[in-house]
Amino acid sequence: MKVLVTGGAGFIGSNLVEKLTEKNEVIVIDNLSGGMKEFIEPFLDKVKFYKVDLLNNVNDYFSGVEEVWHLAADPSVKDSSIQTFFRDLEITKNVLEASRKNKVKRILFTSSSTVYGESKLNTPENCETKPISFYGGTKLSCESLISNYCSLYKIQGFFFRLANIIGKNSTHGVIYDFVRKLSKNEEELKILGDGKQTKSYLSVSDCINGMLIARDKAKDLINIFNLGSNDKTNVKEIAEIVVEEMISSGLLQKKPKFKFTGGVDNGKGWKGDIKEMLLDISKLEKLGFKPRSSSKQAVREAVRETISSYQL
Ligand SMILES: NC(=O)c1ccc[n+]([C@@H]2O[C@H](COP(=O)([O-])OP(=O)(O)OC[C@H]3O[C@@H](n4cnc5c(N)ncnc54)[C@H](O)[C@@H]3O)[C@@H](O)[C@H]2O)c1
Repeated sequence: MKVLVTGGAGFIGSNLVEKLTEKNEVIVIDNLSGGMKEFIEPFLDKVKFYKVDLLNNVNDYFSGVEEVWHLAADPSVKDSSIQTFFRDLEITKNVLEASRKNKVKRILFTSSSTVYGESKLNTPENCETKPISFYGGTKLSCESLISNYCSLYKIQGFFFRLANIIGKNSTHGVIYDFVRKLSKNEEELKILGDGKQTKSYLSVSDCINGMLIARDKAKDLINIFNLGSNDKTNVKEIAEIVVEEMISSGLLQKKPKFKFTGGVDNGKGWKGDIKEMLLDISKLEKLGFKPRSSSKQAVREAVRETISSYQL
């Protein structure tokens, strides 16, 4: 099958592309604003890579494509703004127009748990969506637009509302941030908020496995799935794991002082941050998905990955 991945040189994208090349002809479109060509270099012989900005017309790249994985976006909740909102919506419109014109059969979109806003924990897919950040608002708006196209043009759609995804090739997020900060200053670690922000973390390999199970088994025209682990951990615990792993790998000599910024709105890292997040993943579990590890285990593995790429 001919498959196209937008944002395929990014963190999740490069891991997905590696898996998809096992059985498919894969096309990657990425402008490398966040991703790196090195991430897909090892399997570049099986991939057609185009360094292209999706703000442009991309119809020609979609010729003969059956399945589109739409990942390209600005992944930062903290830095999202009205500008990133409209930019990512524009990208999504261009991807949808190209899909419609080339009669794509299926589109799979990486949405986010942030569409729910501050909902009750163990949030199911049918919970009300009340985003509190531009990032969450963008994801929900993109879901709406994709849903429109799917209904009008009979394209099967998948929205994956992801928890925090971590692991190989990550270039942003709390783990990367802590490792980077401690490599520069081993005396003190500045932690945004009060350290009690408690969320679900999932390894990127589990994330990809879950998305592929959903793709292969779900049959509705529009399919919405939460994707996370079954438990959560907090930012202070993550900082402690980072420190332990950096000490045991010889990158740190002693435990640094933790300096909490206090944050905004009762200890959040930034405005629009969600203090606690845990998704109900039973819908995907019924199709056979089971996270390989807990949030804490996934964090420890991701810290080791990040440290080893730092040592290279
Ligand atoms: N990492 C997470 O925890 C997480 C959680 C929820 C949702 N998501 C979503 O998953 C997707 C992938 O996230 P990621 O963490 O791998 O981020 P990432 O930044 O590593 O990947 C995004 C990729 O999109 C590319 N891109 C951005 N704008 C582009 C444009 N205009 N044209 C072409 N390419 C462009 C970037 O270069 C990058 O390679 C994003 O849609 C993100 O919002 C991620």
